[in-house]
Amino acid sequence: MFDIHSHIIYHIDDGSRDIEESVKLIRSAVEQGATDIIATPHYYVEYPTGSVRIREKLSSIEEAVKDAGIAVRLYAGNEVLYFDSMTERLKEGEILTLAGSRYTLIEFYPLESYRTILKCVRNIRTAGYLPVIAHAERFKGLRENGLGEVINLGAYIQLSTEPIGKKGLGAFFDEETKFVRDALRNGQAHFLGTDMHRMDTRPPVLDSATSWIKKNLDEDYADAILYKNARLIPKDMEIDL
Ligand SMILES: [Fe+2]
Repeated sequence: MFDIHSHIIYHIDDGSRDIEESVKLIRSAVEQGATDIIATPHYYVEYPTGSVRIREKLSSIEEAVKDAGIAVRLYAGNEVLYFDSMTERLKEGEILTLAGSRYTLIEFYPLESYRTILKCVRNIRTAGYLPVIAHAERFKGLRENGLGEVINLGAYIQLSTEPIGKKGLGAFFDEETKFVRDALRNGQAHFLGTDMHRMDTRPPVLDSATSWIKKNLDEDYADAILYKNARLIPKDMEIDL
């Protein structure tokens, strides 16, 4: 699987705490079938992550991973909590797009209005970037209104792997699991992300998602969502919506 959403950069956000943990997270993901991982530290308007810092830390992680004998391709990015002027910081290179492409990973507050989500997609597209909505299952506005309209406006949808393979949990997770599975069955998802943070809280969970996808979706779509679509990101090629 090509994981486009992770917090494997150490000591930069609420993800990995040190380089050893970064290596552990990556090893666990690779053991479950990850081949490529984009590191996407949080970017908030009040707490800019710093693109230089991300690149430097990613280089040291790449070295450590190589020393540990783990075969994986790593890329830099950010997960941006949407704010209106974010396009200016994208243009300045202050916010990192996904693997140097026009694809930009964006999240919202869980209860953000549907109107703001639509506005975001229009703004990002108008500025010449390709908006990818991070863990789309989390937003009330999208759970209530569906994904059709944002996709028509030019948004790409990333779903979290964890709820896809989940079994018999409480009401909140059941809602997310139902949403991600419906989106997959309707062909409304483009990318997957583990959103892994730490080994003890939010470790990578890929294997149950991969099994569910292979069992329940047709082969071409399974291949597109697991690998094919995301492989176009580093090439900066657009996926047909
Ligand atoms: Fe995240």
